[in-house]
Amino acid sequence: MIKFNYEKAYLNSKIEEYQDVVDAAHEALHSKTGKGNDYLGWLDWPANYDKKEFDRIKTVAEKVKDDAEVLVVCGIGGSYLGARAAIEMINGLYPENQIEVMYLGNTLSSTYIKQSLEYLRDKKFYVNVISKSGQTTETAIAFRLLKDLLKEQYDEDYSQYIIATSDPVNGTLRKEINEVGYESFSIPANIGGRFSVFTAVGLFPLAVAGIDIDVLMKGSFDAMEAFENPDLSENPAYQYAVARRILEKQGKSVEMLVSYEFQMTMFAEWWKQLFGESEGKQGRGILPASVVFSTDLHSMGQFVQEGNKLLFETLINVETPNEDLLFPSDDADLDNMNYLAGNSIDYVNSKAQEGTLAAHYEEGSVPILQISIPDMGAYTFGYLIYFFFKSIAMTSYLIDINPFDQPGVEVYKRNMFKLLGKE
Ligand code: PA5
Repeated sequence: MIKFNYEKAYLNSKIEEYQDVVDAAHEALHSKTGKGNDYLGWLDWPANYDKKEFDRIKTVAEKVKDDAEVLVVCGIGGSYLGARAAIEMINGLYPENQIEVMYLGNTLSSTYIKQSLEYLRDKKFYVNVISKSGQTTETAIAFRLLKDLLKEQYDEDYSQYIIATSDPVNGTLRKEINEVGYESFSIPANIGGRFSVFTAVGLFPLAVAGIDIDVLMKGSFDAMEAFENPDLSENPAYQYAVARRILEKQGKSVEMLVSYEFQMTMFAEWWKQLFGESEGKQGRGILPASVVFSTDLHSMGQFVQEGNKLLFETLINVETPNEDLLFPSDDADLDNMNYLAGNSIDYVNSKAQEGTLAAHYEEGSVPILQISIPDMGAYTFGYLIYFFFKSIAMTSYLIDINPFDQPGVEVYKRNMFKLLGKE
């Protein structure tokens, strides 16, 4: 399913040499005795997810799909990036016959918030507010403004247009759910935000966006089974985890996720949170960055080719695009582009990828890890997400980091609340 290739990574030690430490980390992970073990709900979630809630997600999603013009996903970080990554990767950026999905609660930009609310004013929209803690400032601000807009439209019936996803028991949002009686879903206590895309956090918006969540969960399940084997010769998620550690030892402190598909942009944002927030602790970690080529070759290509050699690339190669089209011939050929006539655009993209890979690896001496996926469908998305879950858990355990907390994020919040006068 996923092919991982490290032939062009300039690794100066062998991946198999790490088998013993990988075995120990694997044992700690699976026996749930390692760091952060109270947040390991994601590990067997593809087998153990709540089937009743899953069916309800599909039922409520059908109703919203039939009734709404727009679904507003109101959340931030792990409570939003996974859904957006999936919707954009699987549906593309301008999908036909799908409900429009908008994102709010992910910023404090007054311009963005005001313009989004104005855009929604004449639309029939539903809000899926997502917050595990229920007290995230960005999300709470947008949610209150969205409620006011719904109240303008529907008066006391406003609550019928809200679906809330939160902790099953605790938090401000759960309290509001109980008091007002919104339709609601749960985020299991033992699954952290950035590991939550296979829960209602991701599944409800995905189902509304017309994505087959059964197929997606099957992808995650198959990946879970495939990556249960700690043998490094057979586990690409662990090979990737180890390759990163070897590259770090070789002085590479930045990992740049590369794709050649615009619709993978938000996937890279999701990946950056997963890797950055999980691994960036105690002065350790590889800085996750991302580009979409060939677009960014026209801005970042120079640095990658000839700049500071601090980075390695992780290339996501998509074998078959969701769509393709032929480049037409033109009798006048005023633009001298007829040499490409009759070829598909994806063929041109693949040659750009081949040429860039050679330029960066051979002439730029940039190590390149390659992850090949067959397509950008729901099954592949589920499989790939679980691949990265398993990789980040392993690669973090290899440097004795707890990948499941984020203590550093609280520091800015403390300062902001003090400045805002929050009690
Ligand atoms: O991964 C995480 O834990 C964070 O990104 C959170 O998901 C994010 O801060 C939003 O938190 P909450 O769901 O509590 O609103």
